[in-house]
This record gives sequence, C-alpha cells and structure tokens, in this order.
Amino acid sequence: MKKVTAIYPGSFDPLTNGHLDLIERGSKIFDRLIVAILRNTEKTPLFSLAERRDMMEAMTEPWKNVSVDTFEGLMVDYAVKVRATAVLRGIRAISDYEYELQMALMNRRLEPGIETVFMMPAETYSYVSSRLVKEVFQLGGTITGLVPPLIERRMKEKLNQR
Ligand code: PNS
Repeated sequence: MKKVTAIYPGSFDPLTNGHLDLIERGSKIFDRLIVAILRNTEKTPLFSLAERRDMMEAMTEPWKNVSVDTFEGLMVDYAVKVRATAVLRGIRAISDYEYELQMALMNRRLEPGIETVFMMPAETYSYVSSRLVKEVFQLGGTITGLVPPLIERRMKEKLNQR
C-alpha cells in the first residue's frame, strides 16, 4: 500500500490550539505528517525559528507519525525534497478561502504532483489566529484556552524579557 506523506506548512508564530487541532486531524488521515515551519524573512516574528521549533516538538510529541522541520524558499520545493505528495492547510471561514485557493492553485501550477488538502478545525477555534492571539496578548488581554498552556507561559516570559 502506498504511504502518503503530507506537510503542514505555516509560520506558527505562535502555535495555537487551532493548529494543534488540525495536526491531530491530519495525523489521522496521513501516514506521515511533517509540520514545516517557515523561516520568515520579511516579518519580524515574536518567536525565533528555533523557539517555534522547540515548542512545536514539545506539543506534537504525542503523535508518533508527526515530525517537525523548518524550511525556507518555495514550499513546493521543500515538499518535493521530503517526498510529500500532499499539503495540509486549515480553512476556518470563507474569508480564508480566497487566499488559500490562490496559494493552492499557484502551488499546483508550480508542482502538479502535490495536492493541497483542506481541513476544518473544530468550530471552537474558528476565530483563532496567531495574529489576533499576539495582538490581544500584547495589549494585556487573556489568551487562555486559545493556545496551549506551554505557549502561554513562553509568551509571558517573552513579554517580561522586554
Ligand atoms: O501560517 P501562514 O503564515 O498562513 O503560512 C503561509 C505559508 C508558509 C504556507 C506560505 O506563506 C508559504 O508557503 N510560504 C513559502 C513561500 C512560497 O512557497 N510562496 C508561494 C506560495 S503560492
């Protein structure tokens, strides 16, 4: 039987419960799932690539077919390198759809052998995004329940270091 490797690419700055929900769903349908963290060159991330990788590894430890890696450059080039044939992306609401469709079609044009697979996170997380979590946290709002406790602790440490 053919084994399917998928990558789940993203910035994960920070990792949210919505991301984790999707990783769990992805781990059930793919033989192997590689969470691929983008080394952002243009944005200044809250967490460094090494920190994001470290936290992702700790949080995905329960799933034995899930591994964590980092990448830069074109996502499809990375997918080919690791022999992935699918890309997992989450769609929360219709507002995500347009951007995701553009990316999926561009990626298909670049690499027709790779399929983008969309999954919906649990509706509890349908409004949760890394951008909003960061903004709310930096302005003093509570983010408990939106990110795993480990991430919340690391975010508090980050804020205290400033
Ligand atoms: O979590 P994000 O920020 O929504 O993830 C976006 C990501 C990393 C999937 C996207 O920006 C990406 O694939 N970047 C790598 C560069 C690339 O391949 N660009 C062409 C996309 S069509």
